[in-house]
Amino acid sequence: MLDTQMAAVPTLSLADQARDPERFAADLGGSFRRFGFAVVADHGVPHDLISRAWAETEALFALPKEEKRGYFVEGAGGARGYTPFKTEIAKDAKHVDLKEFWHVGRELPAGHRFAGSMAPNIWPERPEGFKDTFLELFKAFDTAGDRLLSAIATHLGLATDWFDPAVRDGNSVLRLLHYPPIPVDAEGVRAGAHEDINLITLLLGAEEAGLELLDRDSGKWLAVKPPAGAMVVNVGDMLQRLTNHVLPSTTHRVVNPPPERRGHSRYSMPFFLHPAPDFLIETLPQTITPDNPNRYPTPITAHDYLHERLVEIGLIKK
Ligand code: OGA
Ligand code: NI
Repeated sequence: MLDTQMAAVPTLSLADQARDPERFAADLGGSFRRFGFAVVADHGVPHDLISRAWAETEALFALPKEEKRGYFVEGAGGARGYTPFKTEIAKDAKHVDLKEFWHVGRELPAGHRFAGSMAPNIWPERPEGFKDTFLELFKAFDTAGDRLLSAIATHLGLATDWFDPAVRDGNSVLRLLHYPPIPVDAEGVRAGAHEDINLITLLLGAEEAGLELLDRDSGKWLAVKPPAGAMVVNVGDMLQRLTNHVLPSTTHRVVNPPPERRGHSRYSMPFFLHPAPDFLIETLPQTITPDNPNRYPTPITAHDYLHERLVEIGLIKK
């Protein structure tokens, strides 16, 4: 790669998986190994559902401040419902992030064995249709996530359904994000440099510029620019740990816009795909080699790992 020519994350098509699963798995794995990120078109989440979700998201964040605050659960780590502007802070960062968000979790039947670690959802009274839209979207992300995980399994030499039991009734979270317009004298950035905690993240909305990844080859920040409607998918720390860093979790951030876009909000929807709380994150033996000895000899449950990390980012107080 020439210095003058920046690398770019290639766009893959999830539709190719049906025709040639091995090939799709190799392409996805290659993109992850190189960037920790992939851009995935034809992901199967219906366009009309996504349009409805954007409309509902905008309407939600346009509600009066006090009304939104009524959905903030103090001390619950922002796991469900609303988290106000300037709450989350990237690990070791100086300034809080310039964003507000809403979390939708998995609906579990009453008395489910994970009910103790996966809080029930909170639903806003307005906008109308919010609950239906986001339950449907959650399902669609689950389906896309299962397909991506089966490709990851193939790439790692595991059975295509290896992740099924790991993620069944998993603790995934759908985050609706609003980055408000940026005043000229704003301190901090929309989202400070961080890594995601979960297995993989499936993100819609990155067409509005700002998302950048820290390129491991050049050491430079690289803009992620998906074509309209495509999903940005990245490896989180849990998958990095499971794969002994063969699939790297890459540092990324959301920078403030140039002056001509400062007056505009940015909206995005990441789906943080998590395993079930009792899933044991134990280094896959096939990722341990003489050159890459086991970095995590002590396994940890997904639940304990998540808790440690939420304390670090200020969402749970020690
Ligand atoms: C995140 C994140 C990127 C974006 O919420 O973890 O990296 O484009 N979001 O909003
Ligand atoms: Ni992130």
